[in-house]
Amino acid sequence: MAKKRNIIVGQSGGPTAVINSSLAGVYKNAIERGFDKVYGMIHGIQGLLDEQYIDLSTQIHTALDIELLKRTPSAFLGSCRFKLPEIHEDKAIYEKIFEILAKLDIDAFIYIGGNDSMDTIKKLSDYAILTGHNQKFLGVPKTIDNDLALTDHTPGFGSAAKYIGAATKEVIRDAQGLAYKKKQITIMEIMGRNAGWLTGATALAKTEDCDGPDLIYLPEVPFDLDAFMKKVQDLLERKDSIVIAVSEGIKLADGRYVCELGNGADSVDAFGHKQMGGTASYLANYLSAEVGCKTRAVELSTLQRSASHMASRVDIDEAFMVGGAAVKAADEGDTGKMVVIDRLSDDPYMATTGIYDVHRIANEEKLVPRSWMNKDATYVTKDFVDYINPLIQGDYQPIMVNGLPRHLVMTMPGAAGRTRRKKEM
Ligand code: F6P
Repeated sequence: MAKKRNIIVGQSGGPTAVINSSLAGVYKNAIERGFDKVYGMIHGIQGLLDEQYIDLSTQIHTALDIELLKRTPSAFLGSCRFKLPEIHEDKAIYEKIFEILAKLDIDAFIYIGGNDSMDTIKKLSDYAILTGHNQKFLGVPKTIDNDLALTDHTPGFGSAAKYIGAATKEVIRDAQGLAYKKKQITIMEIMGRNAGWLTGATALAKTEDCDGPDLIYLPEVPFDLDAFMKKVQDLLERKDSIVIAVSEGIKLADGRYVCELGNGADSVDAFGHKQMGGTASYLANYLSAEVGCKTRAVELSTLQRSASHMASRVDIDEAFMVGGAAVKAADEGDTGKMVVIDRLSDDPYMATTGIYDVHRIANEEKLVPRSWMNKDATYVTKDFVDYINPLIQGDYQPIMVNGLPRHLVMTMPGAAGRTRRKKEM
């Protein structure tokens, strides 16, 4: 009897609106390429270490399930933030993982994640080569932060940018509506830790029917509270309502995060990243005390990465495409690599997939180039906006049931999502 050829796929890091589209791409392509079984790790490598996995054929039955999965936000399988130790630090953990892989007849291990998750692909593929195991390890890019090296952009970014652009327009309209004979300052806080791609996406709001935000502060450039105050005072002389976009990760020149000046939480994750949040509310309180006008802080928080009702069609399709490309690469014998998106043209927008050694990507961060910010780093340039524009195009409406989006959720009790799917699907 021929040896079984199975695939296992996991999701890792902060979820996005389209991470499940990559999962759907992996599943569909694996079946089409004749893999016997497609397993899903429940909560990534962390769950796998506890032997938490499922056979995805028990979850995905029809073409409608694939469509539903593509439009379901957050991680269908459950995600994790788990850093594997260096191989020399804890060989036992690697032996355990490879025992589980052998037990499941795994030929290819696919991990959908960001730069930290690519560290897992790097270490597992290194270990396999070192110890003569022949499983293939492939990475599928994912992150709203758009900070992965060597790929033009990352799946998840386009949809988050689209949501942020739309939300910024709506916030500006709301703020303008009440600004009569009184001043109002609105501060919007956007995710992205060290990379300002998403915060810059607020500039998408600048359209023929909207002036866009007044100021945009990215984390790549040190934040100067006095210069900020001066800019705000100048603007208030001319306008009643001003809207300012700030990254959750803006830092002072001495390295302190602005959110740390307030009550920002100081917990760190497995990769040593500080928990962000509170930047906008700190600045809103600061301005309210200094200027004495009404201020409001709007923290987009998880909404920006889970808003599948605002997903971009380009993004969903590309997320699906990179999932499929990883299966193809594994099937053709590649390992220790991550699929990337190569932009072929802007108008009409066209992109294809490429593939790179994961050692060149893991733990690296692609930041917004200084040349894509204005002189005093308080806005982004037209080149920046032109780069994002194609990525937010098209819609992929959720499948609506009784006025709300329907999601595909696991049927296993105790599994990620912990919701039993109703029979009618
Ligand atoms: O890694 C993606 C990301 O969305 C970052 O932009 C953000 O800083 C982080 O996740 C927030 O993670 P959590 O939801 O675990 O606080």
